[in-house]
Amino acid sequence: MRPNIILHGGAGRWSHSKYADKAREAVMKCTEKGMNTLRNNGSAVDAVVEAVKCMEDSGYLNAGVGSVLDFMGGRSLDAGVMDGATGRIGAVASVTATRNPVVLARIVMEKTDHHIIGGKGADLLAFLNGLPPLPPPPPHVWERYQEAVRKLLEGKPEIYKRITCFLEDYGFIKKIIEKTLDVGDTVGAVAVDSHGRLAAAVSTGGVILKFPGRIGDSPIPGAGFYASEYTACSATGIGEKIMECMTCKYLDTMYRETKDLVAAAEKTLEYVNKAVGENTMGFIAIDKNGEIVWAYNTEAMLIGYYEGNNIKALIKPTRAH
Ligand code: GLY
Repeated sequence: MRPNIILHGGAGRWSHSKYADKAREAVMKCTEKGMNTLRNNGSAVDAVVEAVKCMEDSGYLNAGVGSVLDFMGGRSLDAGVMDGATGRIGAVASVTATRNPVVLARIVMEKTDHHIIGGKGADLLAFLNGLPPLPPPPPHVWERYQEAVRKLLEGKPEIYKRITCFLEDYGFIKKIIEKTLDVGDTVGAVAVDSHGRLAAAVSTGGVILKFPGRIGDSPIPGAGFYASEYTACSATGIGEKIMECMTCKYLDTMYRETKDLVAAAEKTLEYVNKAVGENTMGFIAIDKNGEIVWAYNTEAMLIGYYEGNNIKALIKPTRAH
């Protein structure tokens, strides 16, 4: 069985990003890392965790070190991993002190009886397992936050004086989410190893300027990630919309019906567009035969994969074939 892997660095409006080239370079490097893990007889779980950890460490993608800031300038990170061969799941939500939430999600999957651990308990688990702490945000993450706040305050400067208006004016939250999609969010990877085992992983800082404590789709199995003996999938975009669609589980169901990965992706995107509208999300998937696919309804989506022996890292890929 030929092992294979595909990564994503987030769906959104990448043309607005000052750091698109750095993000693309990071995805290229992490694609190579993930594939090397598979070539060195690593499992699909090893490969997706290694690839996502590498993207968390890059600082230029919205996960781990490069995570965006919430409304109050804080950070809370989500991640998930699933082993398609065993059905085991691990996820963490609202982590604030751990550099690599995807490694922590794997610890939840392999060392606990739980599926999702959140907040302080998750950070405690990371500490007890010797995982490195989350360093302060890099300068460009602060710059992006300040820029987002500036945009947000245009015409609504009272927001900081009266935080409750955040809760009273739901349309305002929608506006924040629309602005968020200026740049891609979330990282993920899906892989099949030489034994035909599938795995999916995902990690994110969530949406910029989110309400503190908000949890997205990334730690929710079936929504932000899913793996079975048939497919593995990782999603990116507006977490609330991805949860409404259970995007990755939907793709697996479509694959079981059609036995065709491209058809399953097309049906999933069709469903998503009808259910929650365009400019909402993207996803990558792989099947048990090593076929890969990507689909998105945003302006662009950053992906990394191998074509023969060549690594491709593309920001606006045409549809997979
Ligand atoms: N897709 C990441 C999030 O919404 O948190």
